[in-house]
Amino acid sequence: MTTQNESPVYPPSAEAISHAHVDAAKYDQMYAASLADPDAFWSEQGQRIDWIKPFTQVRDVNFNFGEVSINWYTDGALNVSANCIDRHLATRGDQTAIIFEPDNPKDPALNITYKQLHSSVCKMSNVLASMGVTKGDRVIIYMPMIPEAAYAMLACARIGAIHSIVFAGFSPDALAARVNGCGAKVIITADHAPRGGRVTPLKSNADAALLHCQDDVKCLVVKHTGDQTTWVDGRDYDYNAMAADAADSYAPAEMNAEDPLFILYTSGSTGQPKGVVHTTGGYLVYAAMTHEITFDYHDGDIFWCTADVGWVTGHSYIVYGPLANGATTLMFEGVPTFPDASRFWQVCEKHKVNQFYTAPTALRALMGQGNEWVEKCDLSSLRILGTVGEPINPEAWTWYNDVIGKGKCPIVDTWWQTETGGHLMTPLPGAHAMKPGSAMKPFFGIQPVVLDPTSGVEIEGNDVDGVLCIKDSWPGQMRTIWGDHERFQKTYFSDYKGYYFTGDGCKRDVDGDYWITGRVDDVINVSGHRMGTAEVESALVAHVAVAEAAVVGYPHDIKGQGIYCYVTLMNNAEPSDELLKELRTWVRTEIGPIASPDVIQWAPGLPKTRSGKIMRRILRKIAENDFGSLGDTSTLADPSVVDDLIANRAGK
Ligand code: WTA
Repeated sequence: MTTQNESPVYPPSAEAISHAHVDAAKYDQMYAASLADPDAFWSEQGQRIDWIKPFTQVRDVNFNFGEVSINWYTDGALNVSANCIDRHLATRGDQTAIIFEPDNPKDPALNITYKQLHSSVCKMSNVLASMGVTKGDRVIIYMPMIPEAAYAMLACARIGAIHSIVFAGFSPDALAARVNGCGAKVIITADHAPRGGRVTPLKSNADAALLHCQDDVKCLVVKHTGDQTTWVDGRDYDYNAMAADAADSYAPAEMNAEDPLFILYTSGSTGQPKGVVHTTGGYLVYAAMTHEITFDYHDGDIFWCTADVGWVTGHSYIVYGPLANGATTLMFEGVPTFPDASRFWQVCEKHKVNQFYTAPTALRALMGQGNEWVEKCDLSSLRILGTVGEPINPEAWTWYNDVIGKGKCPIVDTWWQTETGGHLMTPLPGAHAMKPGSAMKPFFGIQPVVLDPTSGVEIEGNDVDGVLCIKDSWPGQMRTIWGDHERFQKTYFSDYKGYYFTGDGCKRDVDGDYWITGRVDDVINVSGHRMGTAEVESALVAHVAVAEAAVVGYPHDIKGQGIYCYVTLMNNAEPSDELLKELRTWVRTEIGPIASPDVIQWAPGLPKTRSGKIMRRILRKIAENDFGSLGDTSTLADPSVVDDLIANRAGK
């Protein structure tokens, strides 16, 4: 890794400065204003969206452990779907809202106008309403990356139902846990999800999940590929048939600013995934504002975020932010390497994409395929490049800048989290210099602080590192964990009192710019997918042959981090290649293919303190092949365990 001291600095180009909504002087002025008088600042930003009932109170926030409460625009009323669709109809009804690019490039792309989006979302709303979905109900969305996924989100928002999207790569077990966790009334799914030429049987996964759910959970099925699926009369509903007969208008529900908009399950360092709750008014203001300013979005631009709507990036920057701004947003069903490694760049050329937003893992994979895949495409429409999800290594950053951006496109390295709703730190095009791998500067209203991990004291000045906390609230902040406000407070507000704790480590360099150094908890980031090592461990120990398991991340060239599992078997089980394969499949079934272990090492014992705590630090070092700095092992109950693990390190 390059350190900040060696990093090259790329100042903003004259072109970027002249184009940008926000230049350096304006950033300084706006940032200062956002801290000096947050009420006035966010009151003005609140005017970005339409209110059915205007707010009179801007913020009501308490970060004190035991009494944490976060409210924005508290007495305002609005509807998110009306903001993302209806208010654009008069001025841009015939403009494309969503470009749909299917998995197979031979299939036609779709251009869905705002008028058509309105009609489809109203139909979906009527379909859901006819199934009994009303304000406040929870609806699970388990869908491919097709326009109906966006219709489903917006239809829930229109009705006032709370959606919770489950990434289509999750297994039936993981799906069932989420349906039950939020008490969903309906699962919206599709028959099959083609991706990269392969097909995931979503409906049969939903069938398997429903076996573990309440009898009255209904299933709405979009016929996407049209291939055969099983059907349970009375439980399964045919979306296509129902939508054909449904009315194409539906009055948007009046929602309070603090009514939940969605729940999104994400991984933490302990236990099962938690349902992050985002609400209506503040989230939309923040998603719209960051979309416009970070990506220097202007009317008429074509915006492409390659994430999946199953992750927060898809929520904020495929659907809610762009559509609130009346943008044209591209939804891509496929993968970067199908049918070949030029697919991303072909899609950019075909649809004349102006802003392109992706994850470092995709860049690393494509970079390895050679530049010829890029060079045969015309990328002259690109103006801004973005990255998200994990620290970007300088090599990938430089390739992105030189080969994709031809040295002309500012790169916004956006640091944020499911919990934050939108970007918290990023260089802004035209306002800030860029340093490869640095998230550079806080967004408006964001006060990052670097704390000493042990004392919790704020570390002032530059050229320092520690844990990253945020001092005060912003409108896009999560409000609670669904059904468990105590866990919310404990996770984010108890370690460092009075601050929001991000779980990330960070450096502030000599110039005062921020660098995210990675998670300081037991969360790992695999191909940009966030995962709790505890989840993989509990999947492993659920297998009859496994007595104990410890999972850590290790550096992986493409994925950023890989999943390294130390497994202690039951006395009656023997290590074998078959068992190894079986455990891999087991974890995929319990969680999903994204959690497939990269390495499994048989561990006759795990390094534990005398009080029985597993010393993960040592396990991380062994997985990293870094035996020189294991630190003090004398406090271990049985130090010889470490020698065995080193001697038998997988892949040695
Ligand atoms: C990491 C994704 C470095 C970080 C939006 C964070 C990043 C976690 C960056 C959240 C970045 C995200 N540079 N690290 N630009 N963006 N991260 O909830 O560790 O899936 O805490 O949200 O990803 O992942 P999540």
